[in-house]
Amino acid sequence: MSTKTLFRYPGGKYYALKYLRKFVSTHHTEYREPFVGGGSVFFDKAKVRHNWINDFDDELIKCYHAIQNPVTRESLTDRFSDEIANKTRYSEVKLFTPTNDFEIAWKYYYMNRTSFSGKMISPSWGYREKRSLPPSRWHERINPCGEKLENVKITCLDFEEVIAAPSDDEVLMFVDPPYFNPQKKKHYRHGFTHSDHVRLCESLKSTTHKFVLTYDDCEEIRELYSWANIHELEFFYRVGDSQTSNAQRKLGFELIITNFAEHQGD
Ligand SMILES: C[S@@+](CC[C@H](N)C(=O)[O-])C[C@H]1O[C@@H](n2cnc3c(N)ncnc32)[C@H](O)[C@@H]1O
Repeated sequence: MSTKTLFRYPGGKYYALKYLRKFVSTHHTEYREPFVGGGSVFFDKAKVRHNWINDFDDELIKCYHAIQNPVTRESLTDRFSDEIANKTRYSEVKLFTPTNDFEIAWKYYYMNRTSFSGKMISPSWGYREKRSLPPSRWHERINPCGEKLENVKITCLDFEEVIAAPSDDEVLMFVDPPYFNPQKKKHYRHGFTHSDHVRLCESLKSTTHKFVLTYDDCEEIRELYSWANIHELEFFYRVGDSQTSNAQRKLGFELIITNFAEHQGD
């Protein structure tokens, strides 16, 4: 059921899965993620009848599409089976200009696996010999994730379209937008402005679908969502390069916000 994640992704919710599981296991027959990023929650949970993942980053979504399709998935794993990861090759790939969707996906995946912390904006070399998964083993992530992506709807839309789309099913959305107060420099090609945060709040206020929303804990968010159920989350996470011993444990504070009163498990 749970599949190891495909990407290394800034802001990924891997560290919070053990707290999020009880919220996303509330009953639903359609699952949506308007801000899928690396998809740590989608790959962790069981699929339901209908599944829809979305992100505004078109290169990320092209990579998901290439991995979803069995033909392009096999071409990707074939290409990676005799690929190398070293600084010279990294610089070559970084400078390479893709000319089609397959090449965009290939470059995205190579850069994601070999850049520091998987950062795709101003990326820098971050592959660690003996610690990082070598290219010849990337198929161990790509194949199971690709199989899980079969029959999943994958789109590159603004979040509002995903939240507002009607359904005859019982929909649950896991909503993980960029932080309200991002502490570090830009992580995503599409960041969020103050008006995007307000727009998200308005669209969640008017939806009839159930949602589980995560945010950094701050007064503005507590006020914006005073109409919903706010749960506090305290957790330890690692900062620095998680692939080296330089990583440190830090205490984080986040909010889990829902529009359903309590856990309604299956
Ligand atoms: C916090 S990350 C999601 C992390 C993800 N939950 C994970 O576990 O890896 C936020 C994502 O929102 C996307 N994004 C930013 N603006 C967007 C928009 N207007 N509509 C949809 N996605 C957007 C970014 O590309 C980024 O992937």
